[in-house]
Formats: sequence, C-alpha cells, structure tokens
Amino acid sequence: MNAALERIEGASIPTFVVDTRAIAERVVADEIVALMRTRPTAVLGLATGDTPIGVYRELCAAHRAGGVSFARATTFNLDEYLDLDAGDGATFREWMQEQFFRHVDLARENAHLPESKPADPNLTAERYEAAITAQGGLDLQILGIGRNGHIGFNEPGSSRDSCTRVVRLHEVTRSDAVRAFGALARVPTRAITMGIATILDARRVRVLAFGARKKEIVRRTLLDPRSSACPSTFLRDHGDVKLFVDREAAALLHHAR
Ligand code: PGA
Repeated sequence: MNAALERIEGASIPTFVVDTRAIAERVVADEIVALMRTRPTAVLGLATGDTPIGVYRELCAAHRAGGVSFARATTFNLDEYLDLDAGDGATFREWMQEQFFRHVDLARENAHLPESKPADPNLTAERYEAAITAQGGLDLQILGIGRNGHIGFNEPGSSRDSCTRVVRLHEVTRSDAVRAFGALARVPTRAITMGIATILDARRVRVLAFGARKKEIVRRTLLDPRSSACPSTFLRDHGDVKLFVDREAAALLHHAR
C-alpha cells in the first residue's frame, strides 16, 4: 500500500493514518475505480455526509477523465431520512444527486436509496434489504462514523444482527444534522437505515474519519468494549475492513505518531 499511509500496528481494526484527508479520499476512490474496472457490474454501498464527499469528487474526476464507468453498476445508500417530501433538498437522494449521481453515467434506476415518504416504511425497509440480497450483496461499502458511534443510522443500542429497518434518530445525530437543516425542529426524527448485519455483510468496508471532532469516537471504535453501546465497535468483526483517519482524528491513539 501507499507510503503515505501509516498503519497502526496491533489496532483492533486495520487502521491507517494519513497526513491529509485528501490522501485517504484518493486511496478509497482508486480502490473503487479498480473494482469497477475488474467488475463493471459491482454493487457499491454509498454514504452521505461531510466524510465521503471527497471520495465522490475523486470518482467524478476519474469519470470525467474517461477512467471509469458506472454504467453497469448498482448502488445502495446506507440510509435516508423519513418524513421529507421527495425532492426536498435535505434528502440524501438530493445530496447524492448533487455530489455524485448527476456527474456520472450511473443509471437512475440502479441508484437506490430508501424512499423518504413511503406509505409503509417498514415494508420499504424490508424490500430494501431484499433488493440488496437480490443483487448478490454489496461489493464495497463506504462508511463514516457518527460522533456517537453510529454507522449508517444504527444508533447506540442497535443490535449486531440488525437488518434494514425504521429507526428513531439519536439526539447527537439530530444536533449534528442542524448544519444541513438550519434548525433542530426541522431535523427529521426517523430514518430508514441498513442494519449493522447488512453493513457487515458487504465484502469490503472502507471507513473514513477526519478532524478533531472524530478523535474521541475513533478512540472508542478501536478501544471500547465491542458492544451495541458503540455500534462502530462491531466493525472489528469484519474480515476486510480498513479505517482511514487523518492526524486530528487519530490524536487520541497514542501508538500513532
Ligand atoms: P459526517 O457524519 O460525515 O457528516 O461527519 C458521519 C456519520 O454520521 O456517519
């Protein structure tokens, strides 16, 4: 692997420290490009939020340069808010549209997110899980970690064997989302998320965490007891997971320089 990646020996999840987030974004994007070239029908698990934004920027640039096609790919996003109107600028579908979908040749019908205002949210969640299974599962999942340890919207208390389902959002998650909604009262209280088992079933999981605001949760992810109290600790169960952190997010890992 790249010399700019410093591996933390003995970490409970294979962890790589980078000087700048751009290095990690490039490494993950390059891995996705390589996957798309060897397997044009790959099934990608996608994430929204500040964390993965640079990975999409790199993928769009690679596509523009003629280096990668998503024409035969399928994507499933981790999660979507409930109770927002379709087309509401705050939905994750709109976010994905802006950051990735509209810049690449992915077919709209192959870009999956749970619906935001379905008639029957539980049925929508069940069908979403079934659709992932029907595609043969996820080849590679991109993942961020919430400050409370959530992965997707699997908030503290989520079980290791959870599947796609309707969840209530944790107050830390809602207050972190105020940036996108402007006011806490506007942040939805419910979402549909892939479960922890859904995420861990992906054949590869690539996790990113950047900035000082993630240093405590990075420490907990690697060092806390493996439990539902901190869902990201379950990433230790995965056989092909990599965690990329910048120096600020690694600040509480004393074995990192
Ligand atoms: P962020 O959120 O990328 O906006 O920091 C990460 C997450 O909540 O999964």
